[in-house]
Amino acid sequence: MEPVNAAIIYYSATGTLHALARAAAEGAEKAGAHVRLRRVAETAPPEVINSRPAWAEHLRDTADVPQADLDDLAWADVVLFGTPTRFGNPASQLRAFMESTSALWFNGGLADKVYSAFTASNTPHGGQESTILALGNTFYHWGGIIVPPGYTDPVQFTSGNPYGTSHVAGGGPPDDVTLEAARHQARRAVNTAAALKAGRAA
Ligand SMILES: Cc1cc2nc3c(=O)[nH]c(=O)nc-3n(C[C@H](O)[C@H](O)[C@H](O)COP(=O)(O)O)c2cc1C
Repeated sequence: MEPVNAAIIYYSATGTLHALARAAAEGAEKAGAHVRLRRVAETAPPEVINSRPAWAEHLRDTADVPQADLDDLAWADVVLFGTPTRFGNPASQLRAFMESTSALWFNGGLADKVYSAFTASNTPHGGQESTILALGNTFYHWGGIIVPPGYTDPVQFTSGNPYGTSHVAGGGPPDDVTLEAARHQARRAVNTAAALKAGRAA
């Protein structure tokens, strides 16, 4: 059987989501998938970005990460989306990308794929689950198969978010536990997509 195609599509202003996305890409590769790690386009004006040096620096540092486009979604059997929590919701940069998919959606090009999501917020109760659930609204509209991590691996009992890997960025960059949770989430999503692909081919 052809390997599963996995797209890891994320937005990150200051690097947290980038770190989680890289860990998810590692997990997907370990599970045998062909992986595309993609960042969505930045839409904030330069003066806003430059007002936060860490934001401007991260943009420069990740300029070589290819930008997500619609072909990445069409190509993928499984898509993991990563976004910072912004007032309890996904970042507008990721939403702008998702809202550019109408033609693909209309033609059924987003249905029957596996979807999963991960996030970060500054504070522990800052809206991680609401952000992941908000992405889920769109996955329903797309006719997606939502695969959350649940408590399906021992790491989940330490990292503690069954909705999707989540990190409290106010405490510093993601630690090994959170990165392993992201790897596990991606492995699980890829394994589910592989089972679906095999079943459909039979
Ligand atoms: C406009 C804006 C809104 C935010 N809203 C929240 C929020 O609702 N809850 C929270 O805990 N953190 C909030 N944050 C903090 C971000 O979630 C945090 O900086 C982000 O997860 C870091 O990810 P990144 O390093 O990948 O950009 C907000 C940040 C910005 C700029």
